[in-house]
Parts: sequence; structure tokens; C-alpha cells
Amino acid sequence: MESYSKLKSHLENHQYVWLITGVAGFIGSNLLEELLKLNQRVVGLDNFLTGQKQNLLEVQEIVSKEQWDNFDLVEGDICNLETCSEITKGVNYVLHQAALGSVPRSIKDPIPTNEINISGFLNIIISAKDANVDSFTYAASSSTYGDHTALPKVEDRIGKPLSPYAVSKYVNELYADVFKNTYDFNSIGLRYFNVFGKRQDPAGMYAAVIPKWIASMMQGEEIFINGDGTTSRDFCFIENIVQANLLAATVGNTNILNNSNSERALNQIYNIAYGGRTSLIELFSFLRDGLSEHFPHLKEINPTYRNFRPGDVKHSQADITKAKDFLKYNPSHSAKEGLLKAMNWYIENLN
Ligand SMILES: NC(=O)c1ccc[n+]([C@@H]2O[C@H](COP(=O)([O-])OP(=O)(O)OC[C@H]3O[C@@H](n4cnc5c(N)ncnc54)[C@H](O)[C@@H]3O)[C@@H](O)[C@H]2O)c1
Repeated sequence: MESYSKLKSHLENHQYVWLITGVAGFIGSNLLEELLKLNQRVVGLDNFLTGQKQNLLEVQEIVSKEQWDNFDLVEGDICNLETCSEITKGVNYVLHQAALGSVPRSIKDPIPTNEINISGFLNIIISAKDANVDSFTYAASSSTYGDHTALPKVEDRIGKPLSPYAVSKYVNELYADVFKNTYDFNSIGLRYFNVFGKRQDPAGMYAAVIPKWIASMMQGEEIFINGDGTTSRDFCFIENIVQANLLAATVGNTNILNNSNSERALNQIYNIAYGGRTSLIELFSFLRDGLSEHFPHLKEINPTYRNFRPGDVKHSQADITKAKDFLKYNPSHSAKEGLLKAMNWYIENLN
């Protein structure tokens, strides 16, 4: 049986305590849904800065009453060390997702990005160490590749960061490494590449391109492409990200998967993506064609081109060999397979 299926069968019958920071956000709420479906106990922390109560309500509707009762929400801030110490007590697996996302937002105002993504990270990792948790997995970012142009991206070849957000995510990796060397505290960093899927916020000036374009197309609004449209990304469907988190969190527990790389898999950084590349023009055409089956007015639309955004890298594509080898990660959805699911969710939920 495939590693992730084995892991899920194990979890269904063995209950652990998980902490998800940023639980009301896009990725956090998808992690919550999967863990509750697997009968796990989850403590979730969020201050609702960018996360939504609606995301949690949606999870509540999907899982059973008994599963929902395994969830404890703590409304609080990772910038508060006391809160972090409290919530990490008795936790087996930490999945640290809380952060202030968006490259442009961090360029406009770097201070909150620095406070939440660096000081907040430090609070959580210190608390997790002091609480002696079984594992600590955190959301890193492909933005760490910065100005390094080689493709595909391999974990140990990075360039200079191109934004305060990228700095903050790289500092997380540096701190994690220092925590290993100075306190012998183990962690795993997952460098996500352009994640998309249900519950990703389509609203606001810092929305990610996929939900923003889907919502704008459905509402008949103009679609802007920053640059000439050849900019490309390794768009990664949320279910792949959830899989990677659960595999990473439990990789050190040899009772579960008997992974021969278990020990070596700890204290590493992994690219988490599909390993493909889609240009903005291809993305535009795919979404327009898919959505025009439901919204015929879209058949004839064309994008409006404008300037490249500062801080954006031109191309991004991951080499996912390391995650496949060490974590037994095996992404279940290509970008196109994920986009079809995501479009259906937005059609049902935004209409
Ligand atoms: N979405 C992507 O494409 C992507 C790519 C690379 C890395 N990441 C990282 O993944 C993680 C999750 O991203 P997301 O897309 O779900 O973003 P999101 O904004 O939907 O979720 C972040 C959550 O963290 C919460 N939060 C923010 N500051 C907080 C604080 N001080 N205390 C407590 N909670 C706080 C927000 O309210 C929100 O619910 C982040 O660390 C992000 O940097 C995301």
C-alpha cells in the first residue's frame, strides 16, 4: 500500500494530538478537515487576521459531530509567548502554518511580516521545544529561492531573497537549523510552491492568482496578467500539501511507516509541489475554458497585460525528488486535476 494510505489507516485507529497554527486560514483549515476525518484530536490557534470563521464552519459541516468534538479552537496570537506555551502543552505533532502571506504586502509594509513570521515563529518553536513535542513541521516557502534562476529548484541551491516575506521565511529555516544544533530540537520545513484549492481567499488586493481569477471571471471582471504572461509557476493543489504535512509530521515515528529514511528525513527542508510548470497564459486559458461551460460570457474574454510586479520571480518549478525519497511523498493531483476540483468548489461556493 502507498505510504500515505498506510499512514491514514494508522491514524484512523490511533489518536494523536495535533496543533495547527493558522487553523482558520486556507491551508490550516484543509489540514484540520483531513485530521478530523482521521479521528485525530486537534488544537487550532488563530487570531483571524487573514483567516475566516467561515472556513471552520465549513469543516464543521463536513465532519461528523464526534469528529468535530475533537477540535479545540484557541483564539490567540503567535506573537504572544504565553499563548504559545499554553497551546503546545500535551501536543504530539505541531503543524505551524500561521504567518502573514503575500510578497507585495511585505514590500508595502515589512514590519508586521517580520513580527508575525519571524518573532511569532520563534515563539512557537521555543514553546514546542519546551513542551517536548514529538515533531515540529512548519510552512516554509519557495520564495526562498529568490534570485537563483536555475530550474528545477533543488533544496540546497538558493539565491538572495527578493522580498521581506522571502527573508522572513528563510529566517524560519535558519532558526530551525540553529534549534537542531544548539538544543537538539528536530523539525522539518516544507517549502510550498503556489498552493491553491478550496477555501483559499479570492478577495482583497493580496489574493493569490488562482482564486482571484476564478472569482473575477465568475463576476465578469477584467483579468490582469502582470508581465507578458510567460511567467510560470509550479501550482500545487492543496491535497498534495496536506499529504506532505502528515507524512512529515509522523516520519520520525517508526511505529507508523517503518520508513528506512526516518532518521535522515528529520531536520531537512523539502520542496512541496507537483513538479510541473504552468504559465500565466496557460492558466488563464484553462480557467476560462473550464468556467465558460458554466458561464458562457467567458468564452470570448481576453486578459489585460500590465507591468511585472516587483519581488516576483519569473519562473518557478520544483524538483520534488527529496520529498519523494525521504518522506514518501507522492502528489495525488497535477495542477490541472487540482484546478478542476478547485473550480467546482468556487462555482458551488461563490455563486
Ligand atoms: N498559499 C501559498 O501558496 C503558500 C505558499 C508558500 C508558503 N505558504 C505558507 O503557508 C502558510 C499558510 O498560508 P495560507 O495560504 O493558508 O495563508 P492564510 O492567510 O489563509 O492563513 C494564515 C493563517 O494564519 C493566521 N495568522 C496570521 N497571523 C497570526 C498570528 N499572529 N497569530 C495567530 N494566527 C495568525 C491567519 O489569521 C490565517 O488564518 C503560511 O505560513 C504561508 O506563508 C503559503
